[in-house]
Amino acid sequence: MRTLKLGLLGCGVVGQGLVKLLKKHHDDFKRNGFDLKLTHVAVKHPQKAREVDLSHVHVSADPVALAKTADIDILVEVMGGRELALEAGVAALLRGIPVVSANKAALARGLSRYIEAAKEKGAGLAFESACAAHIPIIEALDRSLACEEISVIKGVVNGTTNYILTLMERAGLTFDAALADATAKGFTEADPSLDVDGIDAAEKLTLLVFKAFGQYVPPDQFHTEGISRVTKADMALAQALNHRIKLIAGARVVDGKLNASVHPALIHKGELLADVDSEFNAIIIEGPAFKELTFLGKGAGQLPTASAVLNDVVKFARGNPTPALPGFVKAHPLPLAHAPTKHLAYCYFLRLKVLSNGIVDGVVSFLETQNVKVLSRAFISNGDGEYLGLITDVVKESRLNHLLNTLKRVDGVLEDPAFIRLDKDNYRDIVELEQRAYFGSSLER
Ligand code: HSE
Repeated sequence: MRTLKLGLLGCGVVGQGLVKLLKKHHDDFKRNGFDLKLTHVAVKHPQKAREVDLSHVHVSADPVALAKTADIDILVEVMGGRELALEAGVAALLRGIPVVSANKAALARGLSRYIEAAKEKGAGLAFESACAAHIPIIEALDRSLACEEISVIKGVVNGTTNYILTLMERAGLTFDAALADATAKGFTEADPSLDVDGIDAAEKLTLLVFKAFGQYVPPDQFHTEGISRVTKADMALAQALNHRIKLIAGARVVDGKLNASVHPALIHKGELLADVDSEFNAIIIEGPAFKELTFLGKGAGQLPTASAVLNDVVKFARGNPTPALPGFVKAHPLPLAHAPTKHLAYCYFLRLKVLSNGIVDGVVSFLETQNVKVLSRAFISNGDGEYLGLITDVVKESRLNHLLNTLKRVDGVLEDPAFIRLDKDNYRDIVELEQRAYFGSSLER
């Protein structure tokens, strides 16, 4: 029976989950002809009390020293942070030690260095848990979809923001109360602004883009917007317009160029993504051969993440090589040029705080004289004031910004209008289908 010695960097929420699972599955490992023994742990505060017993493990405070010198067969990195984690991971790979990492921040920023080190020594690098926790999307892209032409990959990939939006919308919690609840449940990053500002989702998108399109686009190179500008009025208006708001990370090929972005989006209630709630994540892949493929599962939390880490460890223990690079060169000539979000066109949701519903027709006809068709409208009055919500047909973002600058000066518009992109640019078709179902006729074009 082979016994593999594990080194663990970090023993917070996920690390402790892994220690519990190693104990729980100990007999399963043996049934499959190997054993896993945690021998070394590096943590910031070695003396801190933990819910797991580390008394038989060598505990230190230096992750890089562990990675460089410890007698281990697999390094597991769940410590978070960037530079130190990257240095430790690369050091282990350069010793030929396979690395399992849940650290999207370090991976997304240092991917080239990890890959070079892994290639140099032929060491495996696995990071299933770094992207959408328990959804096996990395393995699917690496292997099951290796030869697939992919045109779109998108979804809800941050559990914390999805949990916050769900609780605000469905349970009426304030943003702060929902965030505190997400933190108590172990969903948030050590610095929750990484979740709220969309950075965590952007890091995961970098990993998805790398696996789906074979292209490394660091997270700071695409449009990233979090949920802090989403208001209760937005949620109520979206609801009235038959939509829900989700933080969507997505990449797509538009006219031969790659667009990647993270931003809140209105999702029509008929779409599967609209029903992905709480800490669940979902990823949708589109391609010409198969049209659409959906993955749904828990995207945050101790056991979903630790379990994905353990499955990566077991892959190595069973001798499955995990390629560091996409194994197959895709149909797109590499690298694809970047298509910035602000140069693209979307359908938009607009939110205007207004004096009264007397100005609604004026706002709509102003937009229509500017050739921006309004497809749906809703009006709400909450304790805070009167709000108009509109959904426009497809319009270029630069042009929309220009029009909003004019709209904010219209009498009766009380504050700067805000917009949220729609997830789909075929909203007109959806409106038509709804109208047909309702009235039995199509909308006038
Ligand atoms: N903070 C992350 C999230 C944890 O909420 O999705 C899982 O990556």
